[in-house]
Amino acid sequence: MTVVKHHFAEDVASIQEDVVRWRRYLHTHPELSFQEEKTAQFVYDTLQSFGNLELSRPTKTSVVARLVGKHSGPVLAVRADMDALPIREENEFDFVSQNPGVMHACGHDGHTSMLLGTAKILSRLADEINGEVRFLFQHAEELFPGGAQELVDAGVMNGVDMVIGAHLWASLEVGKIAVKAGAMMASPDTFHIVVQGRGGHAAQPHLTVDSIAVAAQVVTNLQHMVSRDTDPLDSLVVSVTEFIAGTADNVIPGSAELVGTFRTFNADLRRTAPILMERIVKGITEAHGATYTFSYQNGYRPVVNDERVTELLRESLLETFGAEVVVDAVPTMGGEDFSAYQTQAPGSFFFIGAGNSAKNIIYPHHHARFTVDEDALPMGVQAFVNGIFKLLK
Ligand code: NI
Repeated sequence: MTVVKHHFAEDVASIQEDVVRWRRYLHTHPELSFQEEKTAQFVYDTLQSFGNLELSRPTKTSVVARLVGKHSGPVLAVRADMDALPIREENEFDFVSQNPGVMHACGHDGHTSMLLGTAKILSRLADEINGEVRFLFQHAEELFPGGAQELVDAGVMNGVDMVIGAHLWASLEVGKIAVKAGAMMASPDTFHIVVQGRGGHAAQPHLTVDSIAVAAQVVTNLQHMVSRDTDPLDSLVVSVTEFIAGTADNVIPGSAELVGTFRTFNADLRRTAPILMERIVKGITEAHGATYTFSYQNGYRPVVNDERVTELLRESLLETFGAEVVVDAVPTMGGEDFSAYQTQAPGSFFFIGAGNSAKNIIYPHHHARFTVDEDALPMGVQAFVNGIFKLLK
């Protein structure tokens, strides 16, 4: 596979078995967002066994480890998320979830184990480190308002000069690592609309205000935000994901509820989205004699990678793995609360290829058969170790 060129290759090889074992342990024992108590304890105990690290528990289910180098220098934070999802696992390998209905279906088990591996290697190399490495083992990435903001509020970014993090990425083949400066992940905002009509008998529509017919128009017209109300060169998504109405085939329901998500990389567009959206809802409902309620909730901020940190990271990856491994990342409309750290320090978030069609590792994130190719784990550790040295130089 990959030709590893840097001397930390031996260190990575020495912890490869640990990293796979930790990942499988975590995979077997997944915990939901804000409930990662055993996970955090496992991480704490494992970190403590390395020595040389200053450990703290900034919130109930997160862990921070500081490694202070021998020489002075900048402070670099490196983040892994640790939470799982409410999904019943359908994989059949021997380390499937033992917590029914909960599953590591996004690869955060791998993120945690890779960062543990990175900490283990670096804890032996404190003499060679300039500055400080701060390992952030974050809870609750999957559930808004997210663990990242809680950690920021708890002060974990105080004094931090740069921050990096990565996601194991199913749609990228193992053996590739993808980086990109600028917009990388979108803001996953949500909206909630209730169309209030007047219910009645299905045989007498003229005596009703049909909330389903009106709400259907709203769904259709919201797509004008994408096709007609915004610059075609901007990326945005409007998806209505829940349409809740009705109880019987002979009843026109009095109200219909629409829930969905609006996503973009563009901060201006994000500010105008609720105004545009409400204008459409108001116009359609008024036109048909219905009324409405509308609410819009900002989700995580978009992940926008810093130019300089990303360039240094890219250089480090090229030096470590070569040009055949390092590719330009394709941005995604998915969201990530890593963006909370980027409000505190310049940062870069990158993708580590973890899919492998030859091994049938083909299922998308959040799928009941999602898994990662474990060959990605040592690559991730190596990317972190070398990246950290490069950024702290
Ligand atoms: Ni994830």
